Amino acid sequence: MTLIRPARPDETAALREVDRASMDTFAAAGISLPDGDGLLSGDLVLIADHDDEPVGLAIVTVHSGWWHLDEVSVLPSHGRQGIGTLLVEEVIARAAAAGAPGVTLTTFRDVPFNGPWYARLGFVEVPDDAHPWLAEARRSERARGIDVAPRCAMARPS
Ligand SMILES: CC(C)(COP(=O)(O)OP(=O)(O)OC[C@H]1O[C@@H](n2cnc3c(N)ncnc32)[C@H](O)[C@@H]1OP(=O)(O)O)[C@@H](O)C(=O)NCCC(=O)NCCS
Repeated sequence: MTLIRPARPDETAALREVDRASMDTFAAAGISLPDGDGLLSGDLVLIADHDDEPVGLAIVTVHSGWWHLDEVSVLPSHGRQGIGTLLVEEVIARAAAAGAPGVTLTTFRDVPFNGPWYARLGFVEVPDDAHPWLAEARRSERARGIDVAPRCAMARPS
């Protein structure tokens, strides 16, 4: 059974492993990202707990009331079983319950498990500078050596 719950302070190593393993998913799609890309901290860090094993994570920071999804990752060994969807749906539900106007994120526009996947979860593309934190995310990604041309910003109003 998979349960979505806040991460515990003693789970840093597990978070790091999920984050690292998600790089394999990108690599398999031909995308290489800089090492240590995941910051692994935020205003809310959720874990997907599958039979007592952390197999996925979602990291949220809050900006002007909006919930920004900094990262969603699932271990490749547990991919395509609906766990990523559970994580994003939990973030959407918690954001709405907290009175947030919505959820934002940046992602690769055309990678099947990025832009098109988020679109199925109700996200729509918005201009890169629609909100200051989206423009900042783009600047930060560029500074970390990520090619931002194939990336886009998306939002899902509550
Ligand atoms: C994005 C991610 C969290 C999705 O997790 P997940 O648990 O596999 O997602 P779900 O099972 O809810 O949804 C699976 C759907 O995503 C898409 N998908 C997932 N992995 C895919 C892959 N390797 N290739 C193509 N499509 C893929 C498919 O549409 C799939 O549906 P299908 O299996 O019916 O074809 C996971 O792929 C991941 O960790 N990727 C690396 C990090 C990342 O891209 N994060 C999001 C952008 S920041």
